[in-house]
Amino acid sequence: MHLYYAPASPFVRKVMILLHEAQATDHVTLVPAAGNPLDPGSMPVAQNPLGKIPALARDDGPALYDSRVICRYLDDRFGTGLYPAAPRLWDVLTLEATADGIADAAVLMRYEQVVRPESTRSPEWIDAQWAKVDRALTAVETQSMPLLLGPLTIAQVAMGAALGYLDFRQADRNWRAGRPALAAWWATFAKRPSVVATGPES
Ligand code: BEZ
Repeated sequence: MHLYYAPASPFVRKVMILLHEAQATDHVTLVPAAGNPLDPGSMPVAQNPLGKIPALARDDGPALYDSRVICRYLDDRFGTGLYPAAPRLWDVLTLEATADGIADAAVLMRYEQVVRPESTRSPEWIDAQWAKVDRALTAVETQSMPLLLGPLTIAQVAMGAALGYLDFRQADRNWRAGRPALAAWWATFAKRPSVVATGPES
């Protein structure tokens, strides 16, 4: 299998953490890809018409894309057991969606900050993206800590990737302020070998 990737992408990191947890990194060849909404560059548009990463080209079927689809596929293939049975599954998938939404808003902030020409940048739009991140982090701090502190699921993987990306690209926003439980959880989770091995500058 070939995984189109960029180390800075939080969505690629989700997939990479799962592959490390599954001890399955040898099954995947990494193909660097770079681009942005204004210029697809070397993004795998033949594998994913949306021109986004991660995309996973398989030997025995069409390419898969979107980190949620790829993670579900890899979990099924390597038996990592990151998706519990319903009804707990619904809470896990919702927390995964929350983490992905945090990462998505932070990536959009980054694009606005560096890709869009300076004269057309909107500080209000950047702040509106951060407001989403802020609300979501507070919801996690107040409602989702029992799930995060439970057995490993795709929700922790996604949240780790999202928080790592905030530290990487939006460190000056100080997301930890007022969120001691989430900050403590990330301090511990960030030490897992799968997380250490997949840092955005790795
Ligand atoms: C970044 O450099 O922040 C980035 C790279 C690829 C995808 C998303 C974000």
